[in-house]
Amino acid sequence: MSKLILSEKQGLHEQFGEKEEIGGNHYRSWVGPPNYYDLIGATQFNLLTLFGMRETSTLLDIGCGSLRGGRFSIMYLRPGKYFGLEPEEWAVQDGLQSHFGKEFAERKQPTFVYDSNYTFTKFERKFDYLMAHSIFTHAPEKQIRLCLSEAAKVMAPETIFLATFFESLDGTDYTGEEWLYPDIVRFRKSTITSFVEGAGLECQHFDWAHPFNQKWVAVTLKGNMPDVKKLLGGYIYSYEAALERRANATTWPTSPTDNATAK
Ligand SMILES: C[S@@+](CC[C@H](N)C(=O)[O-])C[C@H]1O[C@@H](n2cnc3c(N)ncnc32)[C@H](O)[C@@H]1O
Repeated sequence: MSKLILSEKQGLHEQFGEKEEIGGNHYRSWVGPPNYYDLIGATQFNLLTLFGMRETSTLLDIGCGSLRGGRFSIMYLRPGKYFGLEPEEWAVQDGLQSHFGKEFAERKQPTFVYDSNYTFTKFERKFDYLMAHSIFTHAPEKQIRLCLSEAAKVMAPETIFLATFFESLDGTDYTGEEWLYPDIVRFRKSTITSFVEGAGLECQHFDWAHPFNQKWVAVTLKGNMPDVKKLLGGYIYSYEAALERRANATTWPTSPTDNATAK
């Protein structure tokens, strides 16, 4: 597991990758169209907070890339609460350097594992939230199943795992065995559900706007799905929710997985 080693690459701040091809060797274009880098990050963060992510929560960002979404969570979460897994170390380091610089990045203490086998247990802990944005949009069945079964090992009853995929347009599923990028792959909703259930988990598909029409799915341990409609309606920000919190012993947010280890 690696801590911070900020990239020495020069010129990161000179431009925002406007002229770069998707999938190119620039921290912004690596993860998608550079002109949507801001919105695609913001939508992930907004959704996490709608689902109740507080500053004390722990987040595992699966395939975190250059921290397009991760930068907002790293900023919001308390130090040491953000965890990212990504095969491409350069993308993470260039993201850290570009978004934060050395001092702020070190203050927020994000932890990274550079891995392409979805071995989330390397973090040796469980998480309150898991995010896999634009991973199942490129991954073959075998990898999605592996991701879900490894995710189950680091999930607690309260954990919410949010993921996106591209929905099939013709009733068929991607049957190739390769990760396709920047090409995309498509699956039926029912196929994604069967992958989730195959990992012993449960899921709920839901509508949440996405600039490229990626579809969202919430995954939890069996029997632990929250009221997704209520959460998407902004319940977490409501006065009603605040009153409910005040009725409890403490109004300070907690992390149910704070001391939960995973092997
Ligand atoms: C489309 S980008 C999405 C990045 C990030 N989740 C976001 O939304 O900004 C896909 C990312 O998945 C990473 N990736 C590729 N193979 C992976 C694997 N086996 N496990 C985890 N991430 C992988 C890529 O390096 C890339 O950073």
